[in-house]
Amino acid sequence: MKSDLAILKSTLDAAGAVTVLTGAGISSDSGVPTFRGTDGLWRNFRAEDLATPQAFSRDPRLVWEWYNWRRELIASKQPNPAHHAIVELERRTGRFWLITQNVDGLHRSAGSEKLSEIHGNIWMVRCTACGRIEENRDVPIPFLPSCRQCGGLLRPHIIWFGESLGHEDLMRSTAALKQCDVLLVIGTSGVVYPAAGFAAVAKEAGAFVAEINPEPTPQSELVDLVLRGRAKEIMPLLL
Ligand code: APR
Repeated sequence: MKSDLAILKSTLDAAGAVTVLTGAGISSDSGVPTFRGTDGLWRNFRAEDLATPQAFSRDPRLVWEWYNWRRELIASKQPNPAHHAIVELERRTGRFWLITQNVDGLHRSAGSEKLSEIHGNIWMVRCTACGRIEENRDVPIPFLPSCRQCGGLLRPHIIWFGESLGHEDLMRSTAALKQCDVLLVIGTSGVVYPAAGFAAVAKEAGAFVAEINPEPTPQSELVDLVLRGRAKEIMPLLL
């Protein structure tokens, strides 16, 4: 671990362009449950009942009840040393981009600015009628919230299973993956596409790819270096 840490640190120090991809694991050290971990959300809830457009049209009240529960859970959580280390990396690196799958907003709260929240943000809502998107931090939020502009039903501004990423997010992320010298893949199980394919895109474009995760993932074989441990312990050591 010591020598791998030293290798990654010097590779990062020498890099002109760094991209970081994060998943739920980086926020688990802040107390936000992951999706597929031992006490992960998908162990206790059925994604198809809660995180698909079909589920929302079938029972919007149930979906909002669940997102309300998650908002209440996340509202009291703070960024941890791993989130802060990424802000420092952004500050130090000439060309930097953060791609996060997390909807908890903790990267933004930590101060990250150069980022794509490719799966959306739990504090943003979108009108199903007029398409208006706005921030809403009400906890609790009414179970069938309506749009202030047209009165239409609001939905969480989140990418659900079966929905595509936003065009701009996909373009921006792909560019950041193809142009970076180093890609850090932190706290993701690497099973949900298109993000699960991002390490291979960067690797193919010649980047040095490192994985930070206490557990092996399907990408562990293709990356250049693996640091097995918790993000909040490893990330500060890299800086
Ligand atoms: N530090 C680093 N990694 C960690 C930590 C930690 N402290 N704790 C857990 N992990 C790792 C786990 O080993 C696992 O590989 O984080 C990963 C979490 O995986 P998932 O729960 O599957 O979360 P994620 O990969 O972000 O899920 C992807 O799936 O459900 C959808 O849209 C949702 O964005 C989400 C996507």
